[in-house]
Amino acid sequence: MSITDANPKPLQSLDEWEDFMKERYPESTAAVVKKPSVGTDAEKKKEEFRNYEADARPTVREFYRLNHLHQTHDFVKAKHQEYLGLKRMQMGVWEAAEYLNQLVDDSDPDTDMSQLEHLLQTAEQLRRDGQPRWMILTGFVHDLGKILCLWGEPQWAVVGDTFPTGCAYSDKIVFPKFFEANPDSQNPVYQTRTGVYQEGCGLDNVLMSWGHDEYIYNVCKDYLPIEGLYMLRYHSFYPWHREQQYSHLLDEKDRKNLQWVNAFNPYDLYTKSHTKPDAKALRPFYEELIAEYFPAKIRW
Ligand SMILES: [Fe+2]
Ligand SMILES: [Fe+2]
Repeated sequence: MSITDANPKPLQSLDEWEDFMKERYPESTAAVVKKPSVGTDAEKKKEEFRNYEADARPTVREFYRLNHLHQTHDFVKAKHQEYLGLKRMQMGVWEAAEYLNQLVDDSDPDTDMSQLEHLLQTAEQLRRDGQPRWMILTGFVHDLGKILCLWGEPQWAVVGDTFPTGCAYSDKIVFPKFFEANPDSQNPVYQTRTGVYQEGCGLDNVLMSWGHDEYIYNVCKDYLPIEGLYMLRYHSFYPWHREQQYSHLLDEKDRKNLQWVNAFNPYDLYTKSHTKPDAKALRPFYEELIAEYFPAKIRW
């Protein structure tokens, strides 16, 4: 597959990346599962030894190549400048979910979930499990940052598992060899264990690769409790919450809140097979919940 487009779109749909994550981290490996796992130890062992990279579709491989090539420390700084002033628009949370729902992928609309359906499935499972109201709401907003796609951001700058920039890459990041082409790999300052950071500086001070997580965290940071904000900001930071990497950058606050990021992950990853939620019927419940935490319009 050769892609020379300046703004290439390797994935057929954003879901393709999440489906790949689900293959890499099957439900039997989740840290927090509501039901006892049915997988046998032998099956789990087999999962552990599967070569996910070799089995990845060419579209997913190309997506990771572009992500690892372009996500430099300077690129992240530029995106913070561009987006985190939140000067693009003002809209309510439900309105943002409908706005995001315009994002129609190339894949079959009959079999795939819409963006709004994924948000509702995540939130509805949290609700069924009796989780706190702020967590249900966090589930509902967690992927609203994907509106970056509607503003022309390429897929590799919106989705993908995230990682710290400005320091050495963990080899537990998917497709680590693609980092060889990242200009930061040639900068010795960025290639030490702590890089531009201090030992134990806390993730607050770390510039993560740019994507929908960091953006939605910034949109919501004045409104949701810290546990929910951790879920938003780090839900794609699989090298941390699934691979236990980068512990040298963590502070006490990060260590304390990791349990919430872990608690959220199964709701994000394993609810897509559930029946399609009825957005119209659910809207009043969510409008009321949104109004408990957010003003009528917020800045995006
Ligand atoms: Fe996400
Ligand atoms: Fe999600």
